Amino acid sequence: MKIALIGNGAIAKLVAQFCAQQQKLEVVAALGLPTDTVSVGDYPLVRTLPEMLRFKPALVVECAGHSAVAAYAGPVLAEGLDFIIVSTGSLADEALWNAVKAAADTSTGRVKLVAGALPGVDALASGKLAGLSKVTLRSSKPPRAWKGTPAEQTHNLDAIAAPTVIFSGNARQAALTFPKNANVAATAALAGLGFEATTVQLVADPGVTQNVHHLEAEGAFGRLNLRIEANPSPDNPKTSHMAALSIMRLLQNEAAPIVI
Ligand SMILES: NC(=O)c1ccc[n+]([C@@H]2O[C@H](COP(=O)([O-])OP(=O)(O)OC[C@H]3O[C@@H](n4cnc5c(N)ncnc54)[C@H](O)[C@@H]3O)[C@@H](O)[C@H]2O)c1
Repeated sequence: MKIALIGNGAIAKLVAQFCAQQQKLEVVAALGLPTDTVSVGDYPLVRTLPEMLRFKPALVVECAGHSAVAAYAGPVLAEGLDFIIVSTGSLADEALWNAVKAAADTSTGRVKLVAGALPGVDALASGKLAGLSKVTLRSSKPPRAWKGTPAEQTHNLDAIAAPTVIFSGNARQAALTFPKNANVAATAALAGLGFEATTVQLVADPGVTQNVHHLEAEGAFGRLNLRIEANPSPDNPKTSHMAALSIMRLLQNEAAPIVI
């Protein structure tokens, strides 16, 4: 299966290394920004979508960022190709969500959202079928990891000595206010109760060294309580390794006779 990547960073590198070891998966090209000068894989790096489409991919994987979803979801779907999204936080923008949905509705290609660093997407989406009454996500990171976010204006991050809630609200507010930390909250919302009804707490916790996501859900199915302590990606401390792993799993399933 021929795969094209959008992005040439930490996730792209891991996904490319994985595909290189799989008989049925082949990365044929990657689309990057002008700042991407050397391909992280053994395939060509291109600058435009038409150049990428010349390699005749069967599907396109976004592992670049929110701007890449905005720029390429519509055009890729217009080509009838599947578009796999890891930057799910981009979909908290209602206008972009509506545009992506409209493009998918009229395409033979489909949009596939990966679980990324969120645990339990399968259980959440299954539970939704019987009705969910509550979904809460609590994401904790070391205080320094919130530098460069609006938390810097509201808290003295260097002085935090105990777990401190730096944001409390719904998933849409969380994703729009903290766009660089939006993906996990957005994925929980999209799999479960939606952006307005999903409750999110963002926590600066000097006691954690990883990104810790604690998902709780209730509904007719029962109660879900899951916590992940996610290790960083080898090449990008801001990205959980699980993000790349969840893309690998999806691609493996695309090419597999038995899917799980
Ligand atoms: N769903 C999740 O749980 C989850 C977790 C971690 C990261 N992510 C998403 O994955 C993205 C990529 O992560 P990474 O660690 O590989 O980042 P990275 O910074 O290492 O690499 C990003 C790459 O994408 C390229 N890029 C950025 N915008 C682009 C655009 N508009 N068009 C083409 N190329 C573009 C960059 O030049 C770079 O090569 C993050 O921005 C984040 O949105 C999702």
